[in-house]
Amino acid sequence: MKKVPFIIGVAGGTASGKSTVCARIMERLGQQHQRQVISIAQDSFYRELTEEENNKAKMGEFNFDHPDAFEHPLMLSVLSDLRDNKDVKIPQYDFRTNSRMNDVFDELHPAEVILVEGILIFYDQELRDMFNMKLFVDTDADIRLARRVERDTAHRGRTLTQVLNQYLHSVKPAFEEFCLPTKKYADVIIPRGAENDVAIDLIVQHIQDLLRSPRNSLVNNAA
Ligand code: ADP
Ligand code: C5P
Ligand code: MG
Repeated sequence: MKKVPFIIGVAGGTASGKSTVCARIMERLGQQHQRQVISIAQDSFYRELTEEENNKAKMGEFNFDHPDAFEHPLMLSVLSDLRDNKDVKIPQYDFRTNSRMNDVFDELHPAEVILVEGILIFYDQELRDMFNMKLFVDTDADIRLARRVERDTAHRGRTLTQVLNQYLHSVKPAFEEFCLPTKKYADVIIPRGAENDVAIDLIVQHIQDLLRSPRNSLVNNAA
């Protein structure tokens, strides 16, 4: 009988440290054998834009922090396939062009532990119900903005003016409207993110205990 994967959702505002927290959890869980732990980002499921939306995006006027910016059904079907122990193909997203890379996919095999991170992964109930454990990375907004400026100018092809305009016009208001209210669904809130070694150690310990328990590793207890 195949084990049912244990799916962990990691939400939080932009640049709160979701990707870094997932990397730390993966490191500490270790990869004692193949197919133990994989990580998926909601960013991979940004939808393709129409020409008009694309022109808006180039001027920093498209709202990438709204739930409608994602191809939600694709993310649901990928997670449901992984839960059923099927291989999946995940699109690769290019933040510099605001679009998917043509015909480039990451092929993933199912794993015992699946980490899923993104700003709005707790927004929709069907997606939320996929998770066996829900974490929310809680980092102050000024620290997030400072990190986002550095990251988006260095790695996402943006100017300082673009980052600040987008932050004030869509990122911040959408965080308050759509992301922050989902904090209440979290089982564990991680203050300060990846630097919070105590929280990450406790979470990893809990995951390892669950994986060792035969009952929990075979039965998917998502709500
Ligand atoms: P998210 O996935 O939530 O957007 P990231 O993990 O990508 O956030 O972190 C955003 C940026 O901040 C990245 O450049 C990352 O290297 C940096 N970063 C994340 N956590 C820390 C930390 N604890 N201290 C310093 N820099 C950090
Ligand atoms: O990694 P992070 O959680 O920060 O990724 C989500 C952020 O990416 C959103 O806040 C959104 O504003 C930004 N984004 C962007 N351009 C895109 C797609 C997303 O600036 N084309
Ligand atoms: Mg990220």
